[in-house]
Amino acid sequence: MRAIRVHETGGPEVLTLDELPDPSPGPGELLIDVEAIGVNFIEIYQREGAYPIPRPFMLGAEAAGVVRSVGTNARGFKPGDRVVSQRVKGSYTDCAIVPAEFTVQVPDGVTSKQAAAVCLQGLTAHYLTTSTFPIAPGMTVLIHAAAGGVGLFLCQMAKKRGAFVIGTASTEEKRKLAHAAGSDEMIDYTNEDFAAATKRLTGNTGVHVVYDSVGKTTFDKSLDSLRRRGMMALFGQSSGAVPPFDPQILNRKGSLFLTRPTLNDYVATRDELLARMNEVLGWVRSGQLSVRVGTEFPLSKVADAHRALASRQTTGKVLLIPDHG
Ligand SMILES: NC(=O)c1ccc[n+]([C@@H]2O[C@H](COP(=O)([O-])OP(=O)(O)OC[C@H]3O[C@@H](n4cnc5c(N)ncnc54)[C@H](OP(=O)(O)O)[C@@H]3O)[C@@H](O)[C@H]2O)c1
Repeated sequence: MRAIRVHETGGPEVLTLDELPDPSPGPGELLIDVEAIGVNFIEIYQREGAYPIPRPFMLGAEAAGVVRSVGTNARGFKPGDRVVSQRVKGSYTDCAIVPAEFTVQVPDGVTSKQAAAVCLQGLTAHYLTTSTFPIAPGMTVLIHAAAGGVGLFLCQMAKKRGAFVIGTASTEEKRKLAHAAGSDEMIDYTNEDFAAATKRLTGNTGVHVVYDSVGKTTFDKSLDSLRRRGMMALFGQSSGAVPPFDPQILNRKGSLFLTRPTLNDYVATRDELLARMNEVLGWVRSGQLSVRVGTEFPLSKVADAHRALASRQTTGKVLLIPDHG
């Protein structure tokens, strides 16, 4: 197998392509020939060393591919099945080990690229819009980085649930994409006061919920964009970590709610994973959810993929494609 590993944490240049023996699936595991790999922002933090992981380690958690062999007790799967998972044990590779419990069959009509592109980010948008803050028709929502991977899914799902959607993005191209995905209004948050613009767009009341994945640079004004008793769903920190926070601020700004959710707590059981994933893949299959793969890189160009994602050059999903030749 060829796998991207991190021997020392640091910049994109620490990502090395290593030749390793093919692994064998243990109990409850599958070995898959990877067809498409999803790149996610968290892998930038892991590569940089923000989360301590014993080195050397393989990066990546999201991939779609074809089952090559099945470990003992990995019920419900057979060689040849096309599957996807967001809990791969190192997905930046051409053949990967996945726990069967966190793996889902990809239906006909959904490509492996689409499956890898929608798995983690589509599930995230699903739990944020249906469970963290269940959007009801007529509600108003603010979505930051609306042309990003999670952002484009959030726009579509919020619109589908009947919301008035306000998005933010840094470039005209990104604002057009998010608008096409369902955002009613777009704000250039790099040049405009987005809290003032949000208040203006909501008749001076503010939105019911802010989905904020940007963190450090948006957090304070996101709170200012909320209506009384609104919900701040801080689910990422693409611009950096939010500094320590005084809960009294929630009181002063209108009895606000603040949550810092993470995907694994919303796909905590296999039943919950299947319920969410089957709905998301069903929408892709029926054309109700569009999947934008903004950029594809060969596995060996993984450093370029990380550079592009970290420097705000990407829209939609970033995929890595292994070369099985
Ligand atoms: N909690 C969870 O369950 C969960 C699950 C999935 C992802 N996440 C988090 O959600 C966030 C979005 O993930 P994603 O993969 O979909 O990425 P993404 O949104 O496609 O990419 C990040 C975007 O954030 C915006 N951004 C603003 N300031 C930035 C800065 N200083 N540096 C880099 N980007 C900046 C950029 O959009 P503009 O150019 O428009 O500003 C950029 O394109 C990440 O923080 C990720 O860790 C959380």
